[in-house]
Amino acid sequence: MSSAAPEIIARKRDGGELTPSEILQFLEGYHRGDVAEEQMSALLMAIFFRGLSDAELGVWTDTMINSGERLALSGLSRPTVDKHSTGGVGDKISLILAPLVAACGAAVPQLSGRGLGHTGGTLDKLESIPGWRAHLSNDEVRHQLETVGAVICAAGSGLAPIDRRLYALRDVTSTVESIPLISSSIMSKKIAEGTEALLLDVKVGRGAFMKDHDRALTLARTMVALGESHGVRTRAQLTSMDEPLGRAVGNAIEVRESLDVLRGGGPDDVRDLTVALARHMLDLVGIDADPAQYLADGSALRVYGEMIRAQGGDPDADLPLGVHHHSVVATSPGVVTSVDALAVGVAAWRLGAGRARKEDPVSAGAGVEVLVRRGDHVDAGEPLFEVYADDLEHLELGVDSLSGAVHIGESSLSAPPLLLEVVSASE
Ligand code: URA
Repeated sequence: MSSAAPEIIARKRDGGELTPSEILQFLEGYHRGDVAEEQMSALLMAIFFRGLSDAELGVWTDTMINSGERLALSGLSRPTVDKHSTGGVGDKISLILAPLVAACGAAVPQLSGRGLGHTGGTLDKLESIPGWRAHLSNDEVRHQLETVGAVICAAGSGLAPIDRRLYALRDVTSTVESIPLISSSIMSKKIAEGTEALLLDVKVGRGAFMKDHDRALTLARTMVALGESHGVRTRAQLTSMDEPLGRAVGNAIEVRESLDVLRGGGPDDVRDLTVALARHMLDLVGIDADPAQYLADGSALRVYGEMIRAQGGDPDADLPLGVHHHSVVATSPGVVTSVDALAVGVAAWRLGAGRARKEDPVSAGAGVEVLVRRGDHVDAGEPLFEVYADDLEHLELGVDSLSGAVHIGESSLSAPPLLLEVVSASE
């Protein structure tokens, strides 16, 4: 095979179209070890610049799915629907959404990865709960879906295993930001997971992977088309990620805020987004229920407790908070015109809540509490952020990242809407 690899790379480099059998040979050859890392790196770079046609992308994604196992979720007594977020700062929505949608009668198999870079990972957040276990067997996933209705756990290594190697290679060859490569990476894992329906929360803005609205829309359309062509009812909601979601950014601190929302309080943006996403998920599987009611009456909180206990955690345990803390204050009076999500995400990461390499540990107690929002009046010396870390070195790094994160002016425009376009199959 490796003799054909240079020709395949050259054709993609020159803007040509690859045949299904060439894609299959190349990816399978890579999986077996017959195609070298440098050959795959070159093809990834060619795809980065030249893209993949719809036909090429379909075969590329199929081959990734077929490189591993598919979870068998059919035969459950409830319809299955999952949500995937492309990653945002303070995005703790899954912790509330999965039990909420389960309380309304669906089964939510949320098989997740860990956070890398400035956007946090759901598993890292949940691991701040004493005793909670991220790794479940396929039988345990199925059993928990049947009995509790919601599972958030680590995606097993058997799902689309080529993606692990490709993602690591993309990371070191600067080929992550390619729409066909991102779409096939996300969707191969979600399709292999076996969910019947999928809602994609595609974040757009300063704190998101996709800063540009048109690219986010193209990503959403590409992923919806891929899901639908593989028999998964798929919809995407574009949501704004210029400012952090809610007030808490970190691990345990985000679990606390999620519990506030599950108990009927918490920030409005977190609650409103959760309910809006829940409505889409329920609609995708034909369940006629009002999620706002299931949140307000404590049903979602009850399912959350069951979900955490089923994975060995204590939902009522005290959650850690870094022992070292510092208030970042306003240096001048005025009106908050923006809070920079990217700066806050980077600060949380540097405080220890995130990782630079996938094997790095994360701190449960590190994080940022955002005390102001756009439109608030502040005086000089008034706290803008409360910052937590496990040691002084991390504390200083996080505090430095927050200088200039809040813009203060004379007046502020109202915040842009959180919910942007919806992309459905029919478009
Ligand atoms: N998340 C993934 O799983 N894959 C990508 O390529 C980007 C984000």
